[in-house]
Amino acid sequence: MAPPTLPSTERILLGPGPSTIPPRVMRAMAAPVLSHLDPDLVVLLDEVRARLARVFKAPEGSLTIAVSGTGTSGMEALVANLVTQGTRVLVIVSGYFGERLAEICRRYGGEVRRLEVEWGRAVDPEAVRAALAAGPVDVVACVHAETSTGVLNPVREIAALAHDHDALVLVDAVTSLGGHPLDVSGWQLDAVYSCTQKCIGAPSGLSPIAWTPAARARRVDCRSFYLDVALLEDYWLRRKYHHTLSSTLIYALREALLAIDEEGLEVRWARHERHHAALARGLAAMGLDLLPPPSERLWTLNAVSVPAGIDEAAVRRRLLQEFNIEVGAGLGPLAGKIWRVGLMGASSTPSVLVLFLGALEQILRDLGHRAAQGGAVAAAGAALAEAVRN
Ligand SMILES: Cc1ncc(COP(=O)(O)O)c(C=O)c1O
Repeated sequence: MAPPTLPSTERILLGPGPSTIPPRVMRAMAAPVLSHLDPDLVVLLDEVRARLARVFKAPEGSLTIAVSGTGTSGMEALVANLVTQGTRVLVIVSGYFGERLAEICRRYGGEVRRLEVEWGRAVDPEAVRAALAAGPVDVVACVHAETSTGVLNPVREIAALAHDHDALVLVDAVTSLGGHPLDVSGWQLDAVYSCTQKCIGAPSGLSPIAWTPAARARRVDCRSFYLDVALLEDYWLRRKYHHTLSSTLIYALREALLAIDEEGLEVRWARHERHHAALARGLAAMGLDLLPPPSERLWTLNAVSVPAGIDEAAVRRRLLQEFNIEVGAGLGPLAGKIWRVGLMGASSTPSVLVLFLGALEQILRDLGHRAAQGGAVAAAGAALAEAVRN
C-alpha cells in the first residue's frame, strides 16, 4: 500500500488555532539547524527575548522567553513556579481553558477557589471583588481571551483588584497576544503566558512567557525540572545547558516577531478588530449572531451561534471538504451550539473573510437557511470600506 502523502495545498485555517503561517516564517524554518548552545543561536535568543518584551509590553527586569512546548507548557510553567502545596489560588473559570488552569493549579497543590462565570459571558469585576473579600488569596489566575466561548475578560480591572489584596495575577494570553491590546507593564500583570500558533503567526511548539520581577519575588520551589523558570533563565541568559531547544522553532518565532514589529503592534490589533467587525456584519446579514454580547467579544476568535435546525458538524464538514476551510467546533456545554471561527495573525485578512462568508452562506442556503444570496459578503465589504474611510 502506498504511504499516505503529506498535504500539498494550504488549508485555510480559521479554527481556534493554528492560524495560517506566513511564507516568510515557513522559509525561516528551512535555515540550517544550530545547536542550542551555538553562539549564533544565542544571538537570536537575545533578539527573541527583546522582541517578546515589546509584544508583551513587559516591565523592565522581566524575563521574556519561550518555553519549549505548546501554550499549555507556558500555563503549567507559570503555575509550577507560583503555586505549591497550600497556595491559595482564585481561578476565574469562564470556559474550558479556565477549567484547565484550575486543574493545573490543583495538581501543583494549590488550594483552588473557583469563581464560576456563565459560559459566553465575561467575568464581572464586582464578582472578583466579592471573591477577594471572602478570604485571603495568594494568586488570581484568569484567561484573558477565552477561546472556548469567544469572550474577553477584563484582566486590567482584575489585576487592580487583586493587587489591592496583595495577590499576584497570572494571565493566559494564548488567544490575545499579538491580536488584542495587552499591556503587561501598564496593567501590572505579574506572570503571563501565550502561544506561537495563533496571533503571533508561527507554528505551535513554543510558549512565550512574561515573568515579571513581582512574580520572581514570590517564586515557589518548583516541582518541575523541565518548567523551572530559574533553570530556563539560566539557559536563556547564562547559556547553561537545560534542554535542547529547537533552533528551527526559534527561527520561526523570530521571523514572526520581526513581521509584527514591521506591521506595528497597534496596527496589528486594529487589523484584528476591523476584520472581526466585518465578520460580525457579514454574519448578521445571514441572520447569524455571536454568542457573547458585543462589548465582551474577542476579535480573534468568533463564537458563532448555530441557527436552529442546522446540523453544526455537517456545515463544518462541508466547509472543509468543499472549500478547504477549517473552523472549530464548540467545546463542553457549547458542543453543537457554536462554530469557533478564528481570524488570527495571517488568517485575519479581507480575502479570507470574504471567502469564508461566501462559503458559509452557500452551504447554509443549500441546507434551507434563509439568507439573501451574496448578502454576507456585501455587508462585510461595506464594513471594510467604512473602516478604510474612518
Ligand atoms: C486560551 C487558551 N489557553 C490555553 C490553550 C492551550 O494551548 P495549546 O493547545 O497550545 O497547548 C489554548 C489552546 O487553544 C487556549 O485557547
